[in-house]
Amino acid sequence: MEETLLPPKRILVSGGAGFIGSHTCVELLREGYEVAVVDNLSNSAMSIIHAVGAVAGAEPIFHHCDLLDRVELSRLFCEFAPDVVIHFAGLKSVVESTERPLDYFDVNVYGTINVLRAMADCGCSLMIFSSSATVYGEPVYIPCDEGHPTDPANPYGVSKLLAEKVIAEWALSNDANSAIIFRYFNPVGAHVSGKLGEDPTGPANNLMPVILDIVSGKREVLEIYGNDYNTVDGTGVRDFIHVMDLARAHVLGIEHLSEVQDSEIFNLGTGQPTSVMQLVSAFEEVSGQKVNVKFVGRRLGDVGEVWTSNASAKKILGFETRFSLHDMCAHAYQWIKRNASTSNK
Ligand SMILES: NC(=O)c1ccc[n+]([C@@H]2O[C@H](COP(=O)([O-])OP(=O)(O)OC[C@H]3O[C@@H](n4cnc5c(N)ncnc54)[C@H](O)[C@@H]3O)[C@@H](O)[C@H]2O)c1
Repeated sequence: MEETLLPPKRILVSGGAGFIGSHTCVELLREGYEVAVVDNLSNSAMSIIHAVGAVAGAEPIFHHCDLLDRVELSRLFCEFAPDVVIHFAGLKSVVESTERPLDYFDVNVYGTINVLRAMADCGCSLMIFSSSATVYGEPVYIPCDEGHPTDPANPYGVSKLLAEKVIAEWALSNDANSAIIFRYFNPVGAHVSGKLGEDPTGPANNLMPVILDIVSGKREVLEIYGNDYNTVDGTGVRDFIHVMDLARAHVLGIEHLSEVQDSEIFNLGTGQPTSVMQLVSAFEEVSGQKVNVKFVGRRLGDVGEVWTSNASAKKILGFETRFSLHDMCAHAYQWIKRNASTSNK
């Protein structure tokens, strides 16, 4: 008799206290999944898990654990017995990766191997992995689709590409193993409730957290790296996507995993190019707040413009973005208004 596979119910989320992980936990809990988070809180805090609970109406199980603690990781995985692992945990700063490349390879590559080993220990064979558009490097053509050559320009991008390759080989090695690799473009925004947003522990270095630092009086000026690119206004062009649209993609990913043979890669963005200055103007418009900017030289390793084709995610996953650039700015602003005194712990 043919075996009938039950739909996944239990989702283990590594890095679930972080920016994208916490918003995804909300979507998962609202869909009725049982969720356990494993995180070492190096770039997050326990308050974020409580905020997830407040928004979703149910709190995920939480375990403080480092990806590099292989024995404890395996114990926790076996205790929860997940059907699917969504692996967000990792280090993500391009600049920091050029200063501490070995830490990036340790956490992003070795940490991923530990997650795969823990999955083997507990009999879980389905994974969704957070990769990055950084793996493409300087685009050869735009919009960038999944077939675009990969040529990362910094250790962070190299670490993500290596982790992707490890996962692809793992998936090939056993018929039961399947993985979805998401290459995110530029996630911004916050939950519409205003209770959950992007809240790094150290100094902000992504665009939106820096803007939020300025409107909450923690910083004076936004330094924009380069205004002499061959773009609409000279500033870099990116593909900003609302974090809740990304979160939704993970639910679609779980639903699709049973059809994945080995591994599949999907770019996740809106498919809409937006310059840094266009984002700043949109933010000023929705918030009524002035964002002081200062143009400084280009940053090594930054590309002038890159955005995605999300045709594949649309066709295969049924992925649609629901939020506009104005929503991304309005929700981020709403979040900082509610949380300015407690953010950036
Ligand atoms: N935010 C972006 O712009 C972006 C873009 C592309 C890809 N990504 C990838 O998506 C994933 C999530 O990104 P995010 O923006 O939510 O980052 P984040 O830093 O907010 O979340 C990552 C979480 O992982 C945890 N973590 C880090 N190292 C760990 C370790 N050794 N053991 C256990 N937990 C650890 C952190 O405490 C944090 O809660 C990352 O893998 C990142 O590389 C992010």
